[in-house]
Amino acid sequence: ETPLLVDRYGRVARDLRVSITTACSLRCTYCMPAEGLPLVPRDELMTPEEIGRLVGIGVRDLGIRDIRFTGGEPLMRRDLEQIIGAARSAADDATASVAADTTDVPTASRPAAERVRIAMTSNALGLDKRVDALVAAGLDRINVSLDTVDREAFAALTRRDRLDDVLTGVRAALAAGLAPVKINAVLLPETLAGAADLLAWAVEHGCNLRFIEEMPLDADGQWTRDDVVSAADLLNRLGERFTLTPAGREDPSAPAEEWLVDDGPATVGIIASVTRSFCGACDRTRLTAEGTVRSCLFGNEETDLKALLRNGATDDEVGDAWRAAMWAKPRAHGSDAVELAADAFADTTRSMGAIGG
Ligand code: GTP
Ligand code: 5AD
Ligand code: SF4
Repeated sequence: ETPLLVDRYGRVARDLRVSITTACSLRCTYCMPAEGLPLVPRDELMTPEEIGRLVGIGVRDLGIRDIRFTGGEPLMRRDLEQIIGAARSAADDATASVAADTTDVPTASRPAAERVRIAMTSNALGLDKRVDALVAAGLDRINVSLDTVDREAFAALTRRDRLDDVLTGVRAALAAGLAPVKINAVLLPETLAGAADLLAWAVEHGCNLRFIEEMPLDADGQWTRDDVVSAADLLNRLGERFTLTPAGREDPSAPAEEWLVDDGPATVGIIASVTRSFCGACDRTRLTAEGTVRSCLFGNEETDLKALLRNGATDDEVGDAWRAAMWAKPRAHGSDAVELAADAFADTTRSMGAIGG
């Protein structure tokens, strides 16, 4: 029996994404309804201690190497500093114990005692006031969601007029040494015209911009395949102002394909989740804010690990349940059907704001 989180298609999950709230300070149309998502009752949210325990099991027993906190908006949790701190110490302890357990193994085949990277994906609102404490707690990296630097377009898309506050948050992240900051921009018909301006802004600020094809994860069910702005559409548009040269992926399981901008060193990434899906190399496992495992963004099967924790399960029992959930991970976009077209998606019971991307 392998201790790793493997599935029936031979993929290994080493990247853990943890959603910690469904609340958000913005209302992006592709992610949330205008009124926001139903809030998870407080006693159903995972606590910092529970998150720390699951991170420890993931790193020590299941081979997790990267952790990313998402939401909703992670900054909506007043205890985010405690959550990061709990994850940091659990991950560091687990890494040390894995290294100590294998001192009888020849050095070359020992697992590396490398620091587990802890990241978060955030809209950066209010980040300036908390970034130093988050870094002190153990945060290594941040990806900021920002679709346009046009104030009116930003306000229309997010239903909140807060572009300046987001830009303040990004500057604070850079000042706190969280570089390279990645910027995520969802490709939309209404932001395509501003894509080149956003890229120019990102290059000027030393941020690594990635454009993302919109997936059917909006709360209102408005997504249609015909309205998707594709990687090809974007490349045509950016090509009017920049020279782009293909530069491959950061690593084989990274969602983004990178392009050099005007011969570099700046790059721009494209996450072509719809037109060039990357499920075959997926290395992700997800926890919802309520503490259930989701093996895929689009797979609706969830296994309740928090219930196991609260019912007194051992680490081994939790690890077994997590492994079983990942073994059943669907082949692609939430489906096992081989005839499913690459750009088709299984229906999902949760919108993006309740999975965290
Ligand atoms: P890095 O480690 O910085 O590369 O982070 P990331 O790109 O994995 O995470 P981020 O939260 O910034 O996600 C960027 C976009 O990629 C979001 O729209 C995610 O929904 C999408 N994405 C991330 N993982 C997956 C995945 O497993 N499947 C699909 N279809 N999209 C994904
Ligand atoms: N399709 C693709 N990406 C999305 N995001 C939010 N909703 C969608 C969607 N429907 C992105 C956000 C955030 C990341 C976690 O997911 O921009 O940066
Ligand atoms: Fe992984 Fe599912 Fe995303 Fe495909 S759709 S890359 S299998 S999480």
